[in-house]
Amino acid sequence: FPAEDFRESLIRWFKQEQRTLPWRENQDPYRIWVSEIMLQQTKVETVIPYFEQFIRKFPTLEDLAAADEQDVLKAWEGLGYYSRARNLQTAVREVVSSYNAAVPDTVEEISSLKGVGPYTQGAILSIAYDQPVPAVDGNVMRVLSRILLVDEDIAKQSTRKLFELLVSRTISTDDPSSFNQGLMELGAIVCTPKSPSCLLCPVQEYCRAFHEGVEAELPVKSSK
Ligand code: ADE
Repeated sequence: FPAEDFRESLIRWFKQEQRTLPWRENQDPYRIWVSEIMLQQTKVETVIPYFEQFIRKFPTLEDLAAADEQDVLKAWEGLGYYSRARNLQTAVREVVSSYNAAVPDTVEEISSLKGVGPYTQGAILSIAYDQPVPAVDGNVMRVLSRILLVDEDIAKQSTRKLFELLVSRTISTDDPSSFNQGLMELGAIVCTPKSPSCLLCPVQEYCRAFHEGVEAELPVKSSK
């Protein structure tokens, strides 16, 4: 697999074609964190106005740590999965009390925070801190299942671990942020679940599923 060519094509495409999104305005780890928590169970279009309003109300990590829980839940109203908001505030308070209000930049420290799992930690470390750490969510698993022709069940924990290993070996060390976001963006706008736009895909030549005409059969997902 020509990893270098793949990386270059993906990153070039991402830089040209990425959507303008409010959490892409800067690399503030707090904003990246809020966006990734909101995006976990909610679509981008829905998240945008909530994110903007939330950051207006709680512009910094200290503002969120000091806020009343009821005000935080009110700002989250309509997004659902309210434990996300409660865990986020708990974790932000921990960052203020234990890390001098600086979002930790190591896997060990960041993964100890409430609500921060392997996906969120990879997203924060790569996007905010330019560290070559995988950020594998459902979109990324779909993209990689097709490119590498992996027919393992993506509902299984072991499959996500496999993809994290594959990304660790392939991720750009020059620009891990654009690499990870490129995979996410490709899954969102080109390598979609139904009728993917393979003819517009910047990495079509590297895609085993496209070459074998089986992109519609992937990824494999059990309905458990
Ligand atoms: N989905 C999850 N994280 C995302 C991000 N940073 N940008 C767009 N979509 C996403």
